[in-house]
Amino acid sequence: MAEPTSYDVIIIGGGPGGYNAAIRAGQLGLKAAVVEKRVTLGGTCLNVGCMPSKALLHASELFAAANTEFAHLGIEVAPKLNLVQMMKQKAESVTALTKGIEFLFKKNKVTWIKGAGRIAGAGKVEVTAEDGQVATLEAKNIVIATGSEPAGLPGVAVDQQRIVDSTGALSLPEVPKSLVVIGAGIIGLELGSVWRRLGAKVTVVEFLDRISPGMDAEVAKTFQRELTKQGMEFKLGAKVTGAATSKKGVSLTVEPVAGGAAETLEADYVLLAIGRRPYTENLGLDTVGITPDKRGFIETDHWRTSAPGVWAIGDVTLGPMLAHKAEEEAVACIETLAGKAGHVNYGIIPSVVYTTPEVAWVGKTEEELKAEGRAYKVGKFPFLANSRAKINHETEGFAKVLADATTDEILGAHLIGPSVSEMIGEYCVAMEFRAASEDVARTCHPHPTRSEALRQAAMGVEGWTMQA
Ligand code: FAD
Ligand code: NAI
Repeated sequence: MAEPTSYDVIIIGGGPGGYNAAIRAGQLGLKAAVVEKRVTLGGTCLNVGCMPSKALLHASELFAAANTEFAHLGIEVAPKLNLVQMMKQKAESVTALTKGIEFLFKKNKVTWIKGAGRIAGAGKVEVTAEDGQVATLEAKNIVIATGSEPAGLPGVAVDQQRIVDSTGALSLPEVPKSLVVIGAGIIGLELGSVWRRLGAKVTVVEFLDRISPGMDAEVAKTFQRELTKQGMEFKLGAKVTGAATSKKGVSLTVEPVAGGAAETLEADYVLLAIGRRPYTENLGLDTVGITPDKRGFIETDHWRTSAPGVWAIGDVTLGPMLAHKAEEEAVACIETLAGKAGHVNYGIIPSVVYTTPEVAWVGKTEEELKAEGRAYKVGKFPFLANSRAKINHETEGFAKVLADATTDEILGAHLIGPSVSEMIGEYCVAMEFRAASEDVARTCHPHPTRSEALRQAAMGVEGWTMQA
């Protein structure tokens, strides 16, 4: 049966923004279609982002633990890396997840239109299929969810052979003897960790004089110390100004940002991870009068663009480039266009780095509160004093809570330590309900769990931390 050509909403892009928008539209009884040019659904996140990176982080973490921690627990093994199998299980998980989205589309009566979408004037989307056939569809609403792509660096050409971006770094054919990572952001540190754990010598070159911009500075300092203990090397305040590639590897020219003599770094492989930029290539924005901002982002007001009936969500819009931010916007955008009240609390979007230790945070950092001149109190608790962490020999890191000095409302939570990715949600809920730190401090937590550290940190705001 031929697909319909007219829809209540056509979404361009099938990533976390696009697929969640489509599913919510289906649930609300809207006739919805997603145009996706990739051969599978799920966007960057499922295909070449969140999911494959977490698959490799999990497997490499176990490999490293088997090498360095099992013997102490009385488990004697001699682990041997099978990289082909590690990559295979990653690919299988990704396929299962992308197929899962197909299933959800069927369940919610969403049409998946395969091909590249282009806006062709108000209410019109032109789709070019892989075989070159072009179809024009009509929509009452168009949602742009085209995501982002890795940012480039002049003089460092990504060839996906020796100089790779995140996509290439998820599928290297061998463990590099040496890997230079350009950029100490989330991608650089997560994927740098994967290859470090599997045996590569990893050097991270970062432009700023600190790692992980945006992370609370105290946490970032502890984080850098822990990564250094694992053997990762850092060159901060340094910039790469050129790269020469041969069959065997790459020769990088690195200069201090403050000025001074350049040095040469040799590496088997280089990972370029200096950020991502919004993706709007051939999207036909001009046909509806949308001009992206100077960095390429589509500006929105409650997910509405400047063109009537055209909406935008996810990485292609301003704000953190995170899958859960795209998902939140997807639901809110569809509810708004369906005449309901959509809502996103942009102050409570958590961030997580899935390394060892993990880092997770939500709300304001100490640096932000200081810059705002806001009076705040700090409660802090080290995992070294948490019984579960001690028993498990995972004592690195701490939990830190920032609360308003007058009202005690929680303004931020900053965690570095074991399983904190799973625990930050507690503070997200507390903050969504505008809880005081005392609310968390007086909530019974199960013992022995790492989550007690979160409660103890909240108790620390009023100085009555007690667990040893
Ligand atoms: P995308 O997921 O980029 O999806 C956009 C889709 O639109 C793509 O499939 C693209 O093919 C399609 N498209 C673009 N233009 C067209 C067109 N004209 N026609 C048809 N289709 C089109 N975020 C997290 O929250 N947690 C993580 O752990 C995490 N890990 C990451 C790890 C890596 C290595 C990377 C690169 C990113 C990671 N992210 C993570 C970020 C996350 O992937 C993005 O924030 C998220 O995918 C954004 O969703 P989106 O729907 O806006 O765009
Ligand atoms: P990023 O913005 O997190 O970090 C880029 C780093 O590169 C910064 O520290 C920056 O100062 C540095 N840099 C910029 N130019 C440089 C230069 N010329 N030389 C040296 N360093 C330079 O970007 P990244 O790591 O590429 O990740 C992109 C986005 O993907 C993240 O911002 C995040 O939104 C998303 N992501 C999220 C993950 C998660 O949630 N766990 C995992 C991976 C990616």
